[in-house]
Amino acid sequence: MLRTPTDVYTIVPTSRAMGHVRVPGDKSISHRYAMLAAIADGDSTITGYSPGADCAATLDCLRGLGVAIQRSPDGALLVAGRGVGGLRAPAAPLDALNSGTTMRLLSGIVAGHSFKTVITGDSSLRRRPMRRIVEPLTRMGARIDADDGRPPLTIEGGALRGITHEPQVPSAQVKSGVLLAGLHASGRTRVVEVIPTRDHTERALEAFGATVVRDQNGIEVSGGQRLCAQALTVPGDISGAAFWASLAGGTPGSSIEIDGVGLNLSRISVLDVYRRAGVSVELSGTHESAGERVGAVRFAFASSESFTVEPWEAPLVIDEIPALAALAAMMPPGHTFTVRGAGELRVKESDRISALAAGFRAMGSHVDEYEDGFTLESRPLTGGAVDAAGDHRLAMSFAIAATRAQGRTTIGGASSVDVSYPGFFDELARLTR
Ligand code: S3P
Repeated sequence: MLRTPTDVYTIVPTSRAMGHVRVPGDKSISHRYAMLAAIADGDSTITGYSPGADCAATLDCLRGLGVAIQRSPDGALLVAGRGVGGLRAPAAPLDALNSGTTMRLLSGIVAGHSFKTVITGDSSLRRRPMRRIVEPLTRMGARIDADDGRPPLTIEGGALRGITHEPQVPSAQVKSGVLLAGLHASGRTRVVEVIPTRDHTERALEAFGATVVRDQNGIEVSGGQRLCAQALTVPGDISGAAFWASLAGGTPGSSIEIDGVGLNLSRISVLDVYRRAGVSVELSGTHESAGERVGAVRFAFASSESFTVEPWEAPLVIDEIPALAALAAMMPPGHTFTVRGAGELRVKESDRISALAAGFRAMGSHVDEYEDGFTLESRPLTGGAVDAAGDHRLAMSFAIAATRAQGRTTIGGASSVDVSYPGFFDELARLTR
């Protein structure tokens, strides 16, 4: 993220948080709907597409591959599908900006096209590990150059063959990249999954008319399938909603209700963690939309309990760890939050373990850092100056915790919230007024 001298936001402490909110469209689902619409037969309509910069990067990359994408007057996206295998060679490198999902999923798609694609990103993305997607796609038949396993990726696609792949680390991005390549490959492509990760790609493929075989330890697609254009609505992002859960759950007397949130079973483990931490969580009006579960959630302050995220659970709540850290920091002194088995946090948009530890220490918490996690112990929050390290989820995490500090907190790199949640600070001001 670009950092300007004015890229600082100041949080003034508040005593209550109340209200209704709608969160932006789910980032993971938005990427997938756009990509599948781009390779479907016919014109798709996507309502509620994430307004964040990550998902805009996916649209720009798809445009670079010859896909016509427009906005209708009501804000819905109109995507003119080019059919599986029908993308056009890009005239210039594609820029995934800050978005790992764009890079890893799109790599799978362009690997199945017989032209050269270069995918690059911002300074944060260019530090992130790509061998995990390069290796299986190479085994399928693509030729990929990387910079010591990091972006930019230069992908010479072509005829792919199906493989069985077992990712070394649980990763929905790698699973999805391989399955999308599998759609363009001969035979069957199978991803073995010991620890389940978010299954939006499988559900979206089915929504677009593909057959996906799922069994106890894996997911399989056959190549040669066509996708059929759809009209879809993206549910609200539960990872964005988590910040409001922490705000309400960490502020006595508070309650926040959020409508239209995605409640996919592979994403809601975080709700169990909130309940264990003493937060009241109530769901209502749950229904299905294109295979995704959607509903309203009400988060309210109830009590404050020390809580942990164990290694088996870490992959299921990996994006919500910054929000959970904020909740822990807001608790009365002496409460702890321990997460282990979350080494992946070190290779997200920032090294989230060290950057979270630095920020919360600066605000007054005690943090012990481990290679694969941390323990945060709540102490009176003083406020102070923190740096979001260009990471949207850290900026939001520090902002939520800062509402309970004794003094003001300034957050450097605050505009990074635009990656997934433009308007976040306005919503925070409205809910804490
Ligand atoms: C995502 C998967 C997760 C998550 C990321 C989005 C996705 O990454 O952290 O924010 O949309 O598939 P990994 O699959 O690499 O763990």
